[in-house]
Amino acid sequence: MTTNAIVDLRSDTVTRPSPGMRRAIAEAEVGDDVLGDDPTVKHLQERLAALLGKEDALFFPSGTQANQVGILLNTQQGTEAICEANAHIFHYEFAAAATWSGVQLRPVPTDDGLLTAEQARPYIRPPSPHLARTSLICAENTHNMAGGKVMPLEVLRGLRELASEHSLLLHLDGARLWNAAAATGAAPSEYAAQADTVMVCLSKGLGGPIGSALAGSAEAMERAWTLRKRLGGGMRQVGILAAAALYALDHNLPRLPEDHARARRLMESVDGLDGFRVVPPDTNIIMIDIERDDLTPEDAVRYLEEQGVRVLATGPRRLRAVTHLDVDDAGIERACEAFRALAESRAR
Ligand SMILES: Cc1ncc(COP(=O)(O)O)c(C=O)c1O
Repeated sequence: MTTNAIVDLRSDTVTRPSPGMRRAIAEAEVGDDVLGDDPTVKHLQERLAALLGKEDALFFPSGTQANQVGILLNTQQGTEAICEANAHIFHYEFAAAATWSGVQLRPVPTDDGLLTAEQARPYIRPPSPHLARTSLICAENTHNMAGGKVMPLEVLRGLRELASEHSLLLHLDGARLWNAAAATGAAPSEYAAQADTVMVCLSKGLGGPIGSALAGSAEAMERAWTLRKRLGGGMRQVGILAAAALYALDHNLPRLPEDHARARRLMESVDGLDGFRVVPPDTNIIMIDIERDDLTPEDAVRYLEEQGVRVLATGPRRLRAVTHLDVDDAGIERACEAFRALAESRAR
């Protein structure tokens, strides 16, 4: 599949719908979903609610919008939401929590992206006439910028207990919850059970072209429907996207362990190279640190691109590579070879 094409490891969002998925899209039964008429969307939402063990789920155009509706649902204007300092909602959603919810995010620095109850506890504001009230804890699993790190169930349970102890709600950004479940063998519903609302993506790793979902109680999802509409997320014959998502759940969910194995293969190959250190990946995201002064991440990206391999520069010394269903074993071997050539081209 990747023999002659570019090996695109920038993100697991770069996948293109397969012929089977395109057929499912073409054959989808559709209706106006804003009027509640789309049977394929209904089917997808029921399927996701069951997978996540929640009363209801709602289909969204993006993970960002679903996260933000999760925050809107679970907070009040002028309150604070605690999150890990490298969380997606903090860095990559354009201050949306401040914009739409009027909520101040309170980032908690951690060494490895794993926000534990012990780390979060001191960030909960005590009742005070001077301080904003804490309303929500946000968790991210897997953690994107921590290299697809899995938040173990017991850590998430600890956050749940902390939240309950202080009457806070808990939102789970599970853009890649499927990867966490595939890596640990736990069911997605076991993670989701710890959260009041959970967001999942169908467009990362699973290969859907567009689409995320928010799941929670029936009451919360009824309110979420209105908030989604208010944000411009009401979609009409969106069964064509729901059909792609259903196809992704049937065909691409079971194969996620392949992506994790390929990430490990790339890690093993690159980690030994002169001047490169790789954070061992839990799932499909590989963080590669450049430990030599004569090479910037931007230079590395350019060199690798010339070799037909795309990665992203995500920090002053860091590259990110992500495996996904459009990169096969041959593609990974080409990436390993390109990194070897990069290391040798700069041989000291
Ligand atoms: C952890 C995490 N949350 C949320 C999102 C947002 O998803 P979208 O790009 O669909 O808005 C992403 C996207 O990369 C992500 O990695």
